[in-house]
Amino acid sequence: MTAAVDLTAPSSMRVLLSAEQIQARIAELGRQIDEDYAGSVVHLVGILKGACFFLADLARAISLPARLDFIGISSYGKGTTSSGEVKLTKDLDTSIEGADVLIVEDIVDSGITLHYLMQVLKQRGPRTLRVAALLDKPSRRVRPVEVAYTGFQIPDEFVVGYGLDYAEDYRNLRDIRVLDEPPAKISPQH
Ligand code: IMP
Ligand code: MG
Repeated sequence: MTAAVDLTAPSSMRVLLSAEQIQARIAELGRQIDEDYAGSVVHLVGILKGACFFLADLARAISLPARLDFIGISSYGKGTTSSGEVKLTKDLDTSIEGADVLIVEDIVDSGITLHYLMQVLKQRGPRTLRVAALLDKPSRRVRPVEVAYTGFQIPDEFVVGYGLDYAEDYRNLRDIRVLDEPPAKISPQH
């Protein structure tokens, strides 16, 4: 069991984005996606586990027909040293050949995860392949990633909630909060 940070200590968990702000922005993204993909079926690919709440809300903000699939990715060396090694831990259940694929991610940090995933999925012949990320920390980028739909650009702070974890805790918070004590080690799970 990991020791949980005390949620009752407000100074260690300040709210960066409220549940209302998140939902309002997702509604806007949904409208934008409806316009851009009009007449098509959107094939949403959520990256486990962090993107699960964003995917669930974004899918319902889209009025077009949408399909859902999930992919699991693990990255290593994200503590003090970043090896940039990425591994597929769960593959898609369905083919994406000829599909309009929208990868749904919680946060783009170094860009290593998405850079890798884009390369893997491109080889499977989707008609289009784009990224929707709820959060973006552009100052941390080490690999280039084109993000077509960004919820919020945030500063270089470690955030939790709405799917994002610290050592598997806090995913189910409704808002996004900053951990003021920077973690020594980031959980390898997504
Ligand atoms: P990247 O490969 O460095 O872009 O890593 C992206 C992944 O790192 C995200 O999908 C998250 O799982 C994790 N991550 C990056 N920044 C944070 C954060 O501030 N809080 C929680 N997880 C994060
Ligand atoms: Mg993730």
